[in-house]
Amino acid sequence: MAIMSAFLCLLLILSFFSPGTSLSSNYYAKTCPNVESLVRRAVRDAATNDKKVPAALLRMHFHDCFIRGCDASVLLNSNGKNTAEKDGPPNVSLHGFYVIDNAKKVVESACPGIVSCADILAFAARDAVVLSGGPSWDVPKGRKDGRTSKASETIQLPAPTFNISQLQQSFAQRGLSLEDLVALSGGHTLGFSHCSSFKNRIHNFNSTTDIDPSIHPSFAATLRSVCPVKNAKNAGVAMDPSSTSFDNTYYKLIFQQKALFSSDNALLDSPKTKNLASKFASSKDEFTKAFVKSMIKMSSITGGQEVRKDCDKNEGERRKDRRSDRMFNQGFRDGRSYAQVAKSFGKENTKMNQNEEKKDWSSEKIYNDKEKAINSDGGEEDVGDHTSSKDNGNICKMEASSLNEEYL
Ligand code: HEM
Repeated sequence: MAIMSAFLCLLLILSFFSPGTSLSSNYYAKTCPNVESLVRRAVRDAATNDKKVPAALLRMHFHDCFIRGCDASVLLNSNGKNTAEKDGPPNVSLHGFYVIDNAKKVVESACPGIVSCADILAFAARDAVVLSGGPSWDVPKGRKDGRTSKASETIQLPAPTFNISQLQQSFAQRGLSLEDLVALSGGHTLGFSHCSSFKNRIHNFNSTTDIDPSIHPSFAATLRSVCPVKNAKNAGVAMDPSSTSFDNTYYKLIFQQKALFSSDNALLDSPKTKNLASKFASSKDEFTKAFVKSMIKMSSITGGQEVRKDCDKNEGERRKDRRSDRMFNQGFRDGRSYAQVAKSFGKENTKMNQNEEKKDWSSEKIYNDKEKAINSDGGEEDVGDHTSSKDNGNICKMEASSLNEEYL
């Protein structure tokens, strides 16, 4: 009896602390066996056209998993009065959403209604790493897509100004350890950062010094030349000199005081994280092993409920679209003129939007208050610049392609 109850207790504990229990390796083996190669092709084609795509997909997956779990909530569009995660301040610089939308279309035509957008994003993040010369891994599958996406919740994403205890807390809240923090921060081996993300370190750092003393003087000078007090729209720098290739340069740079963000530099502020960063700086192999382990852990934070048809719209929105289409077509069948149909259609649509508005008013207000607070601080003057980088802006000049040819 005692053994039995100990066993039941163990099961109960495991069900609470094992985030990935519902995911499995062969989830689509019968229902959509080719899904991974379809997604890989979509990512590969997009990355061949635009070298910024792999970094974008890796960051997008991280931002998805940290809010409501990996449920593709980051992919949903704002609608009516609801401002979605996508349009929250830390996400306005996300880009490459079209890659996931295109992959989903191809997957839907092969296996309709089977594969979640959250799984497609997890595959795409893995493919992005492989295409950049990094490791591959078996992505656990079976995530579901969420219905809710609130810009106000993006405040929960870790900020580049975070110190080590804030970072530790942010990761621990998602069941991720200090080792996960150090390994996943290695994602900063890829991509680009806008000036706004590190400007606080090179201008007006505090009341006694203009520049963060933990930045190497020559690096600070370079950053200041790219990001003067009033910098050009979309100005910024590559995350590291080999920013299209997945390597361990990021950790080497931290020890040379050439980390971009305070949150990168903070990895040197606790003995445990400093030792791990040092291990990864001296061995790419140790880094990639740890990165794979932590990516699987992070991407197993689940949270959704359904499989969406379109990655940027939830079922409610789709129903609204279908209803609008039906009403529009019905109007013509009733023999009314275009002007009459358009007029009554407009009225009905307003009614539907008002219902949506009521539901989302409270979180919208919180978000607007936050935005006002940010703006009245006088910082972030180039937040607006980020919007133009979404999907088609050429935000950065990256060095020649180093896409992993074998994967193409
Ligand atoms: C530890 C906490 C983290 C903080 C505070 C942080 C913060 C940031 C910031 C501020 C940017 C620059 C955004 C911009 O200015 O456009 C950035 C870029 C990026 N981050 Fe992180 N990040 C963190 C963790 C991660 C993780 C865990 C990953 C992936 C595993 C990741 C992957 C990336 C990538 C790939 C980029 C470049 C994106 C692009 O070029 O489009 N980051 N991050």
